[in-house]
Amino acid sequence: MPSTTDATAPRVAIVGATGAVGTTLLRLFAERDYRYRSLALVASSRSAGRRLEVEGAEHTVHDLSAFDFSAVDIAFFSAGTTVSEKWVPVATRAGALVIDNTNAFRMDPATPLVVPQVNAAELARRPRSGIIANPNCSTIPLVRLLRPVHERWGLTRAVVSTYQAASGRGLAGMEELRETTRLSLADPGEVVAGERFQPALAFNVVPFIDRLLETGFTLEEQKMTQESRKILGLPHLDVTATCVRVPVLNCHSEAVWVECAEPVDRAELVSLLAAQPEVKVHDLERPGRFPTPRTAAEADLVHVGRVRVTPQNPRAFWLWLVSDNLRIGAALNAIQIAEHLRQVDWTPREEATP
Ligand code: A2P
Repeated sequence: MPSTTDATAPRVAIVGATGAVGTTLLRLFAERDYRYRSLALVASSRSAGRRLEVEGAEHTVHDLSAFDFSAVDIAFFSAGTTVSEKWVPVATRAGALVIDNTNAFRMDPATPLVVPQVNAAELARRPRSGIIANPNCSTIPLVRLLRPVHERWGLTRAVVSTYQAASGRGLAGMEELRETTRLSLADPGEVVAGERFQPALAFNVVPFIDRLLETGFTLEEQKMTQESRKILGLPHLDVTATCVRVPVLNCHSEAVWVECAEPVDRAELVSLLAAQPEVKVHDLERPGRFPTPRTAAEADLVHVGRVRVTPQNPRAFWLWLVSDNLRIGAALNAIQIAEHLRQVDWTPREEATP
């Protein structure tokens, strides 16, 4: 039972509690026995008053616009960037520490961008902004693999193509993929329009996620470059991506090409990756084996396969990775940050300034 009277356990709020990441976070609270003193479920006015059962206890969903953060130690935000831009400052002004899953504050110098397996040291002191940012869903598994490679061989370049699932656009995105797939099967000649995905995702791949920037890159692609640099502490790292939405319900995949300063030995590389926490290498002994979104069973592991050093350039290698974007790419990373906060010597809550 995660609810506890232990005075050191935090009072928690989840903003976006009815959404894809919020509901995953609630599941992880139970699975990981994350202890809280109180739990507030917060969403839009559309859901206000709904009753949700969490670990045998009934909770009423609060309307964010009327919610008071003054009795909250840690607020998890997963309701979209515009919601975070407006309401995270309200939560921090009320003294809560925010773990924000959106793009709103990731590049703010006063806000650490944290993947606990990579840069937990960023959590040594309370962030000046009162916010800890959770990185983009494709960046998290990538940097977890790049970090040890950099330490061993020195990274010079990384080129990534992503294959991103519909759940990255929330529960409505998953439903839209199911619905447009049903419609396309019923009438293959019909051009099915999408709302969350344009053009429609059913039987399609779409090399466009988030919005287009002046550079010709999408914001999603820029996030992967900027966030990888910030998390790895390599501000000039040449890392670039093409981000593609694919008709998969959940789990992002990435084809990653990495170039290092020194020649890479495949056997050493696979052992190094396999030794990382919560990473499973599928072609450890037999080259060529690979995970897929449908077959990678353990959802809390980063799955790696197809590890191959390029014969024409032994300083470079390819790998394929699969990772659950709702868990590893969002809710699991957030709860691992919160779990880490139990070990620090500062309290998440700061008394609100009058
Ligand atoms: P609601 O269910 O009331 O719309 P997803 O990522 O699956 O689309 O979920 C988004 C989450 O963010 C949901 O919990 C949703 O609540 C919440 N949300 C969306 N817009 C707002 C808003 N303006 N204020 C508060 N919560 C919001």
